[in-house]
Amino acid sequence: MSLAQDSLVWVWAALYEELPVNTGKTIRYQDDEVALFRLGSGSVKAIRNRCPHKDGVLAEGIVCGEHVFCPMHDRRINLSSGLVQTPDTGCVRTYATKIQDGAVYIGFPTSAEKVG
Ligand code: FES
Repeated sequence: MSLAQDSLVWVWAALYEELPVNTGKTIRYQDDEVALFRLGSGSVKAIRNRCPHKDGVLAEGIVCGEHVFCPMHDRRINLSSGLVQTPDTGCVRTYATKIQDGAVYIGFPTSAEKVG
C-alpha cells in the first residue's frame, strides 16, 4: 500500500451489484458529497457532486463512456481526471475507489490532509 493510500479513510459506499450502470448515486461522508458512478466498462468512479460552473448536481447527470454531462448546462466532465472538457474549463475533485468483497469503497483524505 502506498503512502497516499495510507492517508485515506476508506468508506463503504454501496454494494457493487446494486449500483445501476451509468447512473449516479450520491454519497455523503462528513463534509464531502460525492457522485458515485458504475460505468459500462465495469469500473467505478467518484467525483465531487457539484459542477464547477454553477453547482449542478453531477449525480443527476447523463453518463456517456468515461464522462458525465452536467444536468444544468451540459458541460462534459471526465470521470477519471475530473477535467471539464473543452470548450469549457474547470476541474472537479476526484476520489479514489476500490471494490472489495462485492462492496464499493470511496477513499477520503484524512482530516489532516484536507487542511493542507
Ligand atoms: S452548472 Fe454544470 S454546466 Fe452549468
